[in-house]
Amino acid sequence: MKKIYGVIGDPIAHSISPAIQNDAFAHQELDCIYHPFHITPENLNDAVKGMKAIGIAGFNITIPHKTTIIPYLDEVDELAATIGAVNTVSYQDGKYIGYNTDAMGFYKALSDQISNLTEKKILVIGAGGAARAIYFTLLSHGTVSVDITNRTLEKAEALIADCPFEKQSAALTLVQAEEKLAEYDVIIQTTSAGMSPHQDAMPFSIRNLSEGSFVSDIIYNPLETKLLKEAKQKGADVQNGLDMLVYQAALAFQIWTGITPDTTRMKNIMRTTLG
Ligand code: ATR
Repeated sequence: MKKIYGVIGDPIAHSISPAIQNDAFAHQELDCIYHPFHITPENLNDAVKGMKAIGIAGFNITIPHKTTIIPYLDEVDELAATIGAVNTVSYQDGKYIGYNTDAMGFYKALSDQISNLTEKKILVIGAGGAARAIYFTLLSHGTVSVDITNRTLEKAEALIADCPFEKQSAALTLVQAEEKLAEYDVIIQTTSAGMSPHQDAMPFSIRNLSEGSFVSDIIYNPLETKLLKEAKQKGADVQNGLDMLVYQAALAFQIWTGITPDTTRMKNIMRTTLG
C-alpha cells in the first residue's frame, strides 16, 4: 500500500519539501507520496492524532510548530529534546518519534567542509531558534569554543546559560564581535539580516575578518548574501544555506526509508525551485 508522508505548517503553500521528497521517492522507486498540510496552531494536537490514526508514515514540521509539537509526540530524540525543537517525525513501532534534522543537517554540511571542527574557534551570529539549534549541535559534538554575538546581548547570554553541554563561550555585543573578528576560524550567520527582501543588510561589519577564515550563512535566498560576497572578497571560504537545506531533507528521507538519497539531485531541484 502506498505510504503517505507530508509537511505541516502555517503557512505551507511555499514549502519546497514536496518537490524534493516526491522526486526522491520516485527516484528510489518507492510507492510513497509527500503532501503539504496547512495546520493552524489550534488544530495541531488534533492533526497529530489524526495523522497517526490514518497511518501517515512520517512528516516534517515547519513554522510555527517546531517547538509546540513536542508534547504531542510519543518520543523525542535526545538532541532534539535538548534543543527543544523537532522538524521531522517518523512512525516506528506504533510511536511517533521526533528528530531535529535541521540541526543534524547543519552539522553534516559544516563538517563536510571543515576538518577538525572540534578544535576551531567559532562565532555564532544571532540568538534565535536557528542559532539555538546550531549552537547546541556544535557543543554536543564536542566543539567547546563557541561564542555568540547578538543585537540583543541578553538573548545571547540566556542561550549560553541554557546549554547543558561543556563549553567555553562568551556572549558579545555586535560591536565587540566586530572588533575581535580576526580571532575566529569559523563564523556562522543565523539572523535574517541579508535575507530577501533585505538583501542589502548585514548583521555587522566584517572589516577585521581574517583571510583564512570560513564563513557560513544559513540564508539560501539569496544564495549569496552581502556577507558572503564581502567575505569572499576578503579571501575567506564561504558556504550558503543550501547544503543545510539539502541535508535536513536528506536526513529526514533516510530516517523514514533507511535509504541515503541522491543529494546532488535534491540540490538541483532546490536550485531550480528557488530560481
Ligand atoms: P530564527 O528562528 O530564524 O532564528 P528568531 O528566533 O526570530 O528567528 O531570531 C532572529 C535572530 O535574528 C535574532 O538573533 C535577532 O536578533 P534580536 O535577538 O536582537 O532580535 C536577529 N536579527 C534579526 N534581524 C536582525 C538585524 N537586522 N540585525 C541583526 N540581527 C538581527
